[in-house]
Amino acid sequence: MISKIDEAANIIKNAKRIVVFSGAGISAESGIPTFRGVGGIWKKYRAEELASYNAFKKNPELVWRFYDYRRQIIAKAEPNNAHILLSKMENMFDSLHVITQNIDGLHKKAGSKNILELHGNIWRVRCEKEEKVFDFMQNPVDPLPPKCPFCGDILRPDVVWFGESLNSDILNKSFKIAEKAEIAIVIGTSSIVYPAAHIPLLTKKKGGKILEINIEKTPLTDISDIFIKGKASMIIQKIFYKIAD
Ligand SMILES: NC(=O)c1ccc[n+]([C@@H]2O[C@H](COP(=O)([O-])OP(=O)(O)OC[C@H]3O[C@@H](n4cnc5c(N)ncnc54)[C@H](O)[C@@H]3O)[C@@H](O)[C@H]2O)c1
Ligand SMILES: [Zn+2]
Repeated sequence: MISKIDEAANIIKNAKRIVVFSGAGISAESGIPTFRGVGGIWKKYRAEELASYNAFKKNPELVWRFYDYRRQIIAKAEPNNAHILLSKMENMFDSLHVITQNIDGLHKKAGSKNILELHGNIWRVRCEKEEKVFDFMQNPVDPLPPKCPFCGDILRPDVVWFGESLNSDILNKSFKIAEKAEIAIVIGTSSIVYPAAHIPLLTKKKGGKILEINIEKTPLTDISDIFIKGKASMIIQKIFYKIAD
């Protein structure tokens, strides 16, 4: 019987257009906790209660402490084999795009070029008053909350919070890419946050396949053509060896 790895590798090998859709699980092996595992003092708060505009307006310092804490973890993190091998795969196909829900920038650090960040990037900030977005690498952030160097208003992380809309340009590009892909490789996402979770469904709707890689089943698993249970880096490595043959 053909293994799931062989089955996945065969589809990928014969595809010209691939979309990768990643979530927090792809960065777990780089030491960045997924959202269910935020520990320490943050056990008192649910991530959802800190990652919202209301929380920011009520207590910008608290929200910034949460982001500063995450920035410090992310600053130490290196891409793992899943990020690295996906970046190598970019040159092996007519098109391979990574659409990520992650704000950690690890796909870029691994060398991927075609990246769409649906939820922003933790290393950018935004001045809402002036509608300016800029890189902000200070680590740790001091003073908290940081102020805009131009107008003095409190800056916010340039990420998409609960209840906020995704950038419509990025979302529309993502939808187009997903519709054209022959396979959507979905890695390490709980597939419950919409509209992002809709992306692989578009690939399937247009006749493409869904390959899901996760350490546990998700709401997408029943819809997926192939589900491979396991850690992202190990599964991607096994598939990579088959397609690089
Ligand atoms: N900003 C916040 O604080 C916050 C909080 C909760 C959710 N969210 C949003 O929800 C979005 C979606 O969440 P998500 O799906 O990215 O993360 P998630 O934490 O909901 O899910 C992570 C998934 O990765 C899997 N996983 C864990 N380790 C893995 C490994 N080594 N290999 C493969 N899979 C592994 C888990 O089984 C799980 O299904 C996030 O991008 C984020 O924007 C944000
Ligand atoms: Zn400003």
